[in-house]
Amino acid sequence: MESRRGTRYGRTMTRITLRRPDDMHLHLRDGAMLQAVLPESARHFARAIVMPNLVPPVVTGAEAAAYRDRILAALPEGMRFDPLMTLYLTEATDPEDVAAAAASGLVKAVKLYPAGATTNSQSGVRDFDKVRGVLERMAGIGLPLCVHGEVSDPAVDIFDREAVFIDRVLDPIRRATPGLRVVMEHITTREGVDYVRSGSGDLGGTITTHHLVINRNHILAGGIRPHYYCLPVAKRETHRLALRAAAVSGDPRFFLGTDSAPHPDHLKEHACGCAGCFTATNTMSVLAHVFEEEGALDRLEAFTSANGAAFYRLAPNGGTITLEKRGSAAVWPDKITGGAGPVTVFNPGFPVYWHVTT
Ligand code: DOR
Ligand code: ZN
Repeated sequence: MESRRGTRYGRTMTRITLRRPDDMHLHLRDGAMLQAVLPESARHFARAIVMPNLVPPVVTGAEAAAYRDRILAALPEGMRFDPLMTLYLTEATDPEDVAAAAASGLVKAVKLYPAGATTNSQSGVRDFDKVRGVLERMAGIGLPLCVHGEVSDPAVDIFDREAVFIDRVLDPIRRATPGLRVVMEHITTREGVDYVRSGSGDLGGTITTHHLVINRNHILAGGIRPHYYCLPVAKRETHRLALRAAAVSGDPRFFLGTDSAPHPDHLKEHACGCAGCFTATNTMSVLAHVFEEEGALDRLEAFTSANGAAFYRLAPNGGTITLEKRGSAAVWPDKITGGAGPVTVFNPGFPVYWHVTT
């Protein structure tokens, strides 16, 4: 029996064909690391919103154009991939440069990192009044602001930083800038889910693969597991369940942004380990597992391939990707080889029987 381009035997769907997916939040890095991780995304994803937190950050339209060229030059022969570029918002960002980069079609969003919130966020925003002009220009032209939604105030508990950010920063910015289109990136809390639901078409939320799988116990109980440490840090189980409900709901405001963020193992397995989970390699298989568990395989395509494109006002991708559930677990490498050493691939902690076949 065929069901929405999936095959059901009895009540169990074992094969599903989706429009080729988009990753609406991805770290590709640069140089040898870019070379190592790009094929892992390009194998399954047609496009990705590429994060600008390089060292130094990608601030101007010219820097984004040069970075895009480096990404395309790193793409292996025969692979196709469209990097959707972003600019890193600083207090010195020029609204006219942003507008020109958007008008040319090069830049699809501007990324707001509160200074100190995460990896390479030192050049981010401290005084939000200083970026008012840029935000108003963006509202005028409909260019989305991607937001790392955590306060960096050391007095705020790390598990509360997302919820506090909504009240202290995000909601005031949105109220002060009518028409500003915002993506609340990698939401990790029920508060984040509820806030995204409170918006109309001007507010979206990305959800990562790993936040649908792990809660904070996975990081901390029975030993500290640095490869599960990312920012925003995974929260308690009730929050993971809220994220799952949002992701599988089909609600167009929620879409996939993996936040796949490679760091070499020696910097993860460290006294002060870097934040980031590397999920590009196995995201589609893991997501099929999660959506099947939730009885929502028929909504996987909305999450990975439709809602994000619609938010960014992009045409849906033309090609397809097929996943098949087999009797044997899918295998992927434990690590890929990055320039500065191996990078551990996210281990969901359970066998995954969904194989990407084409
Ligand atoms: O876990 C994370 N890693 N969160 C971020 O916000 C940044 C990212 C990175 O660039 O490594
Ligand atoms: Zn990120």
